[in-house]
This record gives sequence, structure tokens and C-alpha cells, in this order.
Amino acid sequence: MTAEQPYMLEARDISKKFPGVLALDRVNMACRGGEIHALVGENGAGKSTLIKVLMGVHPPDDGEIFVQGKKVNIRNAAEARWKYGIDSVFQDTTLVPSLTVAENIFLGQERDFYVRGLISRARLRTKAQEILSEIISDAGIRMPDSDKLIRDLSLAERKIVAIGKAVASKARLIILDEVTALFSMDQIRALFKMLAELKKKNITTIFITHRLKEVFEICDRATVLKDGKYVDTVDIQDISTTDLIRMMTGRESGLFFPPRAKKPPSKSVVTLKGIAKHGILDDICLDLYEGEILALAGLRGQGQAELLQILYGLQKYDEGEIFIRGEKVGIKKPIDAIQHGVVYLSDDKDEELMFTLSVQKNLALPTLEKRSKMGFVQRRTEKAASEKVVAEFSIKIASLKQEMSNLSGGNKQKVALGRWIPATPQIFLLNEPTQGLDVGVKIEVYQLMRRLADEGRSLIVTLTEMAEILNLPDRILVMGDKRIKTVFSAEEATEEKILHAALG
Ligand SMILES: Nc1ncnc2c1ncn2[C@@H]1O[C@H](COP(=O)(O)OP(=O)(O)OP(=O)(O)O)[C@@H](O)[C@H]1O
Ligand SMILES: [Mg+2]
Repeated sequence: MTAEQPYMLEARDISKKFPGVLALDRVNMACRGGEIHALVGENGAGKSTLIKVLMGVHPPDDGEIFVQGKKVNIRNAAEARWKYGIDSVFQDTTLVPSLTVAENIFLGQERDFYVRGLISRARLRTKAQEILSEIISDAGIRMPDSDKLIRDLSLAERKIVAIGKAVASKARLIILDEVTALFSMDQIRALFKMLAELKKKNITTIFITHRLKEVFEICDRATVLKDGKYVDTVDIQDISTTDLIRMMTGRESGLFFPPRAKKPPSKSVVTLKGIAKHGILDDICLDLYEGEILALAGLRGQGQAELLQILYGLQKYDEGEIFIRGEKVGIKKPIDAIQHGVVYLSDDKDEELMFTLSVQKNLALPTLEKRSKMGFVQRRTEKAASEKVVAEFSIKIASLKQEMSNLSGGNKQKVALGRWIPATPQIFLLNEPTQGLDVGVKIEVYQLMRRLADEGRSLIVTLTEMAEILNLPDRILVMGDKRIKTVFSAEEATEEKILHAALG
């Protein structure tokens, strides 16, 4: 980089301390104009903190930021956006649930839409369509209807709106923190096409993801963080996946899966007969056996999540019967499911974790009743049980007293899953249990799932990554057109067969 061509953005020696954690320790990052720059590292490495410093959300304790060679002091996200042309989609997206898509996109720019003292909704909508169609729909990204409220959208759709909002702000640098975790294959395709278009316009992207495949597919360079420290910045074409993983983890490791159990399926634990929900699921019949991991695969949005939610009493079904251990059961509310030993992990961590409570309280919630004696909670056992889960699952926290909202994205996910372990339920319904987890933690989660199965518990999991589908479960159920298309045993499944079943 020559003196005439300064970096679009440069962060030098950035440090940021939170109570009990040095989240960033003299970190550097420098982005060229028009490049797609990956920011990678394990859960808790400091990625989200760095971008919040760049966006002015967290003031750094130390260090300097330069935008096009000029030293800047970014005080808040609005300033980053309007003064310096930097916009971002945070991991914990900050859209307003009670506003519409169009209102969210132009939040802070309402001034441009006043007609006789009132916001013109028509203009807002037209402008939203106009700006978004320019880049977003050209790439094939389907924007949700601009009059819809954010709270009525799926998590993936919310991310799409947030991306639309960043593009609409005409930023020169767009930061995407873990946006693809819940995207379908075609949404990822479309996003990559859009990023390529932005690149042509010399717009820079900082792309945070745990899927290294994505890094190798679209990124030009990568900056690696480990434990809050800067490791290096590398050209993607000069490096292999193994090297990148070694830089991130300090270990030599690929993705690997625990061996499956050898024993054939015996007892059916859950039987579904003709479960239907109009417009969403049709005639679902299946058995879940003791000690097995059953994967729900197929394109996203074919009713997989709804099926899990029906089993957990979060959604109603119109037809069919549910049997648990041979007994016909009515599941109308989650408490009915819990009483039958069924637990559910949502793909939306925000939905089920109590963010204002401590980590310890969150870990303790599922077993609260068990540990209460004559109305008093046994604090000592609560602490001991929580410590055990934290250790067993290597959850990265400063202390058990730490507020849940302060954990890194991946560590929130670990708490969401880990808190069920002491509660010993028999049937686990896991909706995207590995999203947002780094390679090392993914392996821990695979091992945990297999251990649960080996102990005789049964798991139904929705998975989207092909490597996981092929290597983790005992059986794979491919869904499409609201139905079960095919069921494969682990031995007979191949990528071609699964894709063929999903698309055919
Ligand atoms: N507001 C906060 N208060 C206290 N600690 C925080 C806060 N935000 C982040 N941390 C801590 O800082 C460290 C870095 O977190 P950060 O969210 O930046 O990680 P990350 O690299 O984005 O991880 P992930 O891949 O899991 O999203 C973690 O130990 C986290 O618990
Ligand atoms: Mg993060």
C-alpha cells in the first residue's frame, strides 16, 4: 500500500477491557478499498468487540483508528454511518421489532421523508424498494415485504433487512458479523453475489464467519484474532484451511466427528402418526429410537423447525397423533413436553436466555425445581452445578456472576445447550445447535450430542451443513414440500442422494 493510497480503514493497537476480561489487547486491522476482508477467530476471540469499537459503540481504552489515512474519533454508530461511511450488521442485530421493514431501513433518515410535517409512508416504501432493488434484488436476495413488522420476520429475514439497511446507507465499508449462520444455501449464494457487486463499486466488506469455506470462497484477505490478540493478516490465496485453523486455535485440527454407536435401533421413543399443520406440514410419520441422533435435513424452511416446535408445544398441529414411549400424548404447551422429558433448543438464543440475569442463573433455570427445598433454592448446589457445566463445556466467562448479555455469541449458544445437561431430559429437540460455533466448539458439541445418545437419550436436530449431515447423525430425514421425502441410514447417505431427495 503506497502513501497515495491509504487504507480505507485502519485500526492500530486497539485495546478494550471489560470487567474481568481483556477483550482486545493491542489489535490491528487494516482494510483496503474494495476488498472483502475476513475477521476470524474462536468464540470469544474479540471479533464482535473489535467491530463495535470501529463503529463507536464501545470506546477503546487505547489505540487509534484511521479512515482513509485520517485519524478519527468515532463516538457512536450514527457518526460511523453518516460521517465516515461505515455501517454494520451486528451479530446481535439492532433492528426495532415494533417498526416495519421500510421504517427500520430508514431509521435516522426520517427527515428526508416528511411531507407537510408527517412521514410519507408511500415515499418511504418506494424509496426502500428503489434502493434495495438496485443491489439486493439484482443479486437475487428476496427482501421481506417492506410493510411487515420486524417482529413478524424470521431471524434470517431480519438479517436480510439489516443488510439492506447497511447497503441503503450508502456506506463505503460494510461490516457483516456472522450474518450467514441461519441463511439457506440460496440466500448465501445471493449474498455473495451482492458482495461481489459491492466490490466492483469499490465498497469494502469486513466479513465475520465461522464457516471457513465461506472465507475461502469470497474473501481476499483475513485477519486472525486469538484470545483478544492480533495474530496476523494473510492473503487468502496464500493459505490453506489447516493453516488458518492453526492460526485461530493454535492447534492442528480439522472438523471431526465422534464415532457412531454400533447397536441397532431398538425401542421407539417418539412416534408421530400423520402429523399435519395446514400449509406447513403434511402427513408426517416417523419414529425416533432410543439412543439415536436423527437429523432433519433438506432445504431450509421445509417445516423442520415447525416440526420441532410442534413436538415441544410451541405450535399447534391440525391433525395426527404423538406417542411418547407408546403412550398417546397431547402436547399443547411446552410444560406438557417438559413433563414427558422433552426439551427444545431454539435457533434464537435471545428467545430463551434471560439476558439480564447472570450466567449462573441461566444455567440453573432448568433445574430450579429440583434444587429447591421447601421453597428455598440451594445456592451452593446451584453454583457447583453451574461450575461443572462451564468447565465441561469450556464456556468462556469472566465469572458466573457475569450478565448473560455480555457473553460472546458462541458462548451464549453453549450456555443455551449446556444448561440442559444437569436436567437430564430424555428427548432433545435441537434447532440449529451448531450455528455460530467455532470449529473447536462444534467438535465439543458433536461429542456432547453423541454422549447423550450413547447414554440412551434421543435427539432430533436440524442441520444445514452437509459435512454435519453426513457425519453426525444415525439417520437422516430429508424434508421437502412440507413432507418427509426420504429417510437415509448413515451408511447409505451421500451428498448427491440427499440433494437429490431435497430438490427432487
Ligand atoms: N459488554 C461486555 N461486557 C463484558 N464482557 C464482554 C462484553 N462484550 C464482550 N465481552 C467479552 O469479551 C470477549 C470477546 O467477546 P466477543 O463478543 O468480541 O467475541 P467474538 O470473537 O465475537 O466471539 P463469537 O464468535 O462467539 O461471537 C468475551 O470474553 C466476552 O465475554
Ligand atoms: Mg461475535
